[in-house]
Amino acid sequence: MKRFYIKTYGCQMNFYDSEKIMALLAKNGYDIVPRPEDADIIAVNTCSVRKHAENRALSFLSSYKHLKKEGKILCLLGCTAGLYKDAIYKKYGFIDVVCNPNNYNKLPEVLPLSSQKKICLIEEDGSPFISEQIVPHKQVSSFITVTKGCENFCSYCVVPFTRGKLISKKPEDICREIKNLIEKGIREIILLGQNVNEYGKDTGDDFPSLLEKINNIDGLLRFGFLTSHPKDIADTLILAFQSLPKLYKHLHLPLQSGSDRILQLMNRRYSLAQYMKIIDTARKTAPNITITSDIITGFPSETKDDFNKTVQTIKNICFDDLFVFKYSARPLTKSSAMEDDVPEEEKRERHKTILDFQEEIALKRNQRFIGEVDNVFVIKPAHKKRGCFLGKSSTNKTVMFTSPHSRPGTLEKVTITSADRRYLFGDSSSGN
Ligand code: SAH
Ligand code: SF4
Ligand code: F3S
Repeated sequence: MKRFYIKTYGCQMNFYDSEKIMALLAKNGYDIVPRPEDADIIAVNTCSVRKHAENRALSFLSSYKHLKKEGKILCLLGCTAGLYKDAIYKKYGFIDVVCNPNNYNKLPEVLPLSSQKKICLIEEDGSPFISEQIVPHKQVSSFITVTKGCENFCSYCVVPFTRGKLISKKPEDICREIKNLIEKGIREIILLGQNVNEYGKDTGDDFPSLLEKINNIDGLLRFGFLTSHPKDIADTLILAFQSLPKLYKHLHLPLQSGSDRILQLMNRRYSLAQYMKIIDTARKTAPNITITSDIITGFPSETKDDFNKTVQTIKNICFDDLFVFKYSARPLTKSSAMEDDVPEEEKRERHKTILDFQEEIALKRNQRFIGEVDNVFVIKPAHKKRGCFLGKSSTNKTVMFTSPHSRPGTLEKVTITSADRRYLFGDSSSGN
């Protein structure tokens, strides 16, 4: 039996893919091991969204090249493989297998050949979804990819080059996959797509209808979706937050910048006014909704004035949470042809400025729930304290609560008693 190890970097989609790859290889007779030292095949599932992410994964793999003389096989999977294709061999000659996200299905067939020759699986039109079922290990939550790829070509983003064109799974396949997971104990599902609300553009299916079908699946308690693009938010999607009781009242809606000039250079295809209108409608439709976002600081030509517009917008909107990134020029992207003219120090300063004041906003946003009683989805016991559990509120906030009798994978009434910047704290006995 061959022993296989995989290390994963990047977004949730990569983690989902890695689970699927493990399930596929296990079915084909591979032993999945938890430590690279114990493996015959060491794989890394890579991310290329920023230079830093790319470097981390490549240096992880490099750190095992001395084991090649023992016959170990080193595999580069994921977005970096999709981006550089076989050119990667020039710089990293020690790699044995290169495979982009569209070709994982072929791994069982080709891995046995990798000790004799280099393998390069990079065709764009492979089969993007592995049908093998994930085997949950005592978990109650799971991700499911519903679309792969992206054709939006935001000018800074490498994803269209690493994952290719948009492909949506059929609603019947998604529902079947969810039902199978429910049989294995899963009660919460997060739907994944690079731009998930573009679901069905290629097949004629419709995202809000998919959500309705999922809401009707027996045994499922909660579900959510990531990531939405502001240019594709239909009113019917926002109504789903009101009409579908199992759907988390949470919208992750990357803004990227508060300056219309920068948004245009980013090829985001919405204006700040359009973005604000979505926020307004969402909050009117589902008053408790939590809204989170992504911001890039130091995009080429971003002036102090552009940055101040972003700061002002964030302060006006009051996001529940923010992911802030320093601009990183990526190969093949349109913005990489622009001068990366905001000095690193300035990017870092702008990044820190946002994170600092967001702490205070996030705390205030969390404190608004104090005194409320919510149905919390129980995930697991909290590590340190007995009688203390971790769960998620109906708005997808992490809740730490005390309870004499909680069971993971159920809903429990919890009274929120306090909050810090990251957690809501509560007590279940007073809610019951
Ligand atoms: N598909 C999602 C997420 C893409 S990657 C979307 O459309 O929003 C996640 C986040 O990484 C992006 O929202 C963006 O904020 C950030 N990002 C992407 N490319 C980047 C780059 N070249 N430099 C810095 N941040 C980047
Ligand atoms: Fe990248 Fe834009 Fe596609 Fe998101 S929508 S994956 S940021 S190109
Ligand atoms: Fe990274 Fe690829 Fe995800 S570039 S963010 S692993 S889609």
